[in-house]
Amino acid sequence: MRVETSDNRYLSWPSSDHTLIPCEVYIDPHIFEQEQELIFKGAVWHLSGLLADIPKPGDFTSTYIGTTPVVLHRAHDNSINAYVNRCAHRGARVIRELRGNNKFPICPYHNWRYDGTGKLLGVSMERGMQNKGGYPDDFSKDCHGLKTLRVETIKDVIFATFDDRAPPLREYLGSAIVGRIETICMRPLRIVGYQRQTVHCNWKLFVENNRDTYHGPQLHTFVGQFGLAMPVDRVSVDIHNAHALLSSWLPSPTDTDGKDRFPAQKGKYELDDPSIAEGFDALGDLQLSVISIYPGSLFTCIRNSWSCRRIIPTSPGTTDIEYTWFGYDNESDYEHECRKKQSNLLGPAGYIAMEDAEVLAMTQNAISRGDTSYIEFGGAGIEITSDHFNSEATVRAFWKGYCEMMQIPTP
Ligand code: FES
Ligand SMILES: [Fe+2]
Repeated sequence: MRVETSDNRYLSWPSSDHTLIPCEVYIDPHIFEQEQELIFKGAVWHLSGLLADIPKPGDFTSTYIGTTPVVLHRAHDNSINAYVNRCAHRGARVIRELRGNNKFPICPYHNWRYDGTGKLLGVSMERGMQNKGGYPDDFSKDCHGLKTLRVETIKDVIFATFDDRAPPLREYLGSAIVGRIETICMRPLRIVGYQRQTVHCNWKLFVENNRDTYHGPQLHTFVGQFGLAMPVDRVSVDIHNAHALLSSWLPSPTDTDGKDRFPAQKGKYELDDPSIAEGFDALGDLQLSVISIYPGSLFTCIRNSWSCRRIIPTSPGTTDIEYTWFGYDNESDYEHECRKKQSNLLGPAGYIAMEDAEVLAMTQNAISRGDTSYIEFGGAGIEITSDHFNSEATVRAFWKGYCEMMQIPTP
């Protein structure tokens, strides 16, 4: 099978080492459709939610995987389930709310009734009325449940996949990413809030941006301007298949006299309320942890601003981002307030994320067929581990995974 473009060509790749990207992959509607089948419904795992999203039996939360509406549901038996939000009868959306509690959802169209595992429990007028009509005698409700997804969890984090051939979740993510999720989730999580945002770019531009360590100091001058750029002692990059884990640590308190640990690197501007640059150490010296899970999930801790983000493609040129902000369950009011305040680093009006959204829209708008994108910062390799941020290896790793799943031959 070969990926076809909208003008009936086979997609060809301009370089063998993923240093050149053909820009039609960001704009072509036919390629967008094939990504849904080959990647989003393929043998990959999607970070779909947190146990804290659905703490009680009957709790559900609605999301998307690719363009497919999906519900995460804690059923009446306390099991964690994921199913496609499409009635097995004629395809109406069964759950219409973003979040809520409903142990036995009923489709609004003809009132088929399910449980939180996706099992069909009841069919209106199954035997017709007055011995007329209804379903045939061999109709079995067991054959008409909602389409379910495979679900696995690591600590409080829920992952789902459409594909039974997907490897076990821990194998898929690799030990470094699994270890980091376990470290961050060492205590039960608590939801701080939710946000949603539409960015005017292809979903892959957003993925690249979040694993691109090159642009930070250049684009986000705010960060250094107001003292959010920490004196970093060490950084690391871990790549496992097409996933990336970015980390940075502060010098340990014993290495400094404490006073210079958070120097305000102020420029000519000042914040009226500088408290957004304050905070507390929840993970020891670890100050930045960005896990970019192929294809479209992010698990991000920037200082006290912790979120998982689901990257949801809606068209070749638009992408929705769903944010779940979280902290620990037993934090103080001060710590909870710090998290709420620092959530505004990202999000629709986030100090950092606004700049990303703007520059990504500018990039999307400038793309024409025939363009290529150039990704050779740090060479052409994909080093599995490194101790610096001066490379686009994480972006090349994404494209290597993309070409493999899309079955695009490289020259
Ligand atoms: S479409 Fe859901 S009951 Fe008919
Ligand atoms: Fe950025």
